[in-house]
Amino acid sequence: MKSKEFRVVVLISGNGSNLQAIIDQVKAQQLPVVISAVLSNKADAYGIQRAKAANIDTITINNQEFTSRDAFDAAMQQEIDKYQPDLIVLAGFMRILSDDFVNHYLGRMINIHPSLLPDYRGLNVHQRVLNDSKTVHGVSVHYVTPELDHGPVFLQSQVPVKPNDDADTLAKRVQQEEHKIYPLAIKWIAEKRLDYNHGNLLLDGKPLHSPQFLHKVMTESDRQSGSH
Ligand code: GRF
Repeated sequence: MKSKEFRVVVLISGNGSNLQAIIDQVKAQQLPVVISAVLSNKADAYGIQRAKAANIDTITINNQEFTSRDAFDAAMQQEIDKYQPDLIVLAGFMRILSDDFVNHYLGRMINIHPSLLPDYRGLNVHQRVLNDSKTVHGVSVHYVTPELDHGPVFLQSQVPVKPNDDADTLAKRVQQEEHKIYPLAIKWIAEKRLDYNHGNLLLDGKPLHSPQFLHKVMTESDRQSGSH
């Protein structure tokens, strides 16, 4: 294990398209990290095949074989820490994490959530956005803290909601942005541009009071006010 490597462990439960985006950026030498391992709580997660195809170590720990969340999380922690990771990347990991696990990786664990946090925490986000007739939606990357989907957000990207969208078309549009912003978020951390600093985020040494945006959607009111 080379000491100057920035080591990442990715946690998944399913398809792993975000994992793939990260793998592709590493392969293209656009993301200066080593993906040390991919951990899934489901043996049949397609993301495990993606990791194997990229010669990345895989770990499967079936949460159903544990009697408590704490025991499952402790087993994960033991496996993850063998890799001495600098960063834990949650990429569609569909388990709520115990406080002990989160606190062990505090400031070293990030998540991607398919909404413009703090709006639409939790599940079924795209349908809820459609139900509310929103015209702008998006995705957020945030540090993980014990309260679900509440940790400090540092990078977001917006997408338009189109009149004929259903939850699937909207999810696809959001995912295209996910695949851009998640590798970028990891890059900022690996390059030490972003610092957690006890929850007070610093970007390039300056306090980050609100998230950065990769893309913004111009709304009707932006147009009317002439802003760009
Ligand atoms: C993504 O939509 C992400 O925002 C959410 O889980 C999904 C994972 O998708 N946290 P994939 O497995 O990376 O394709």
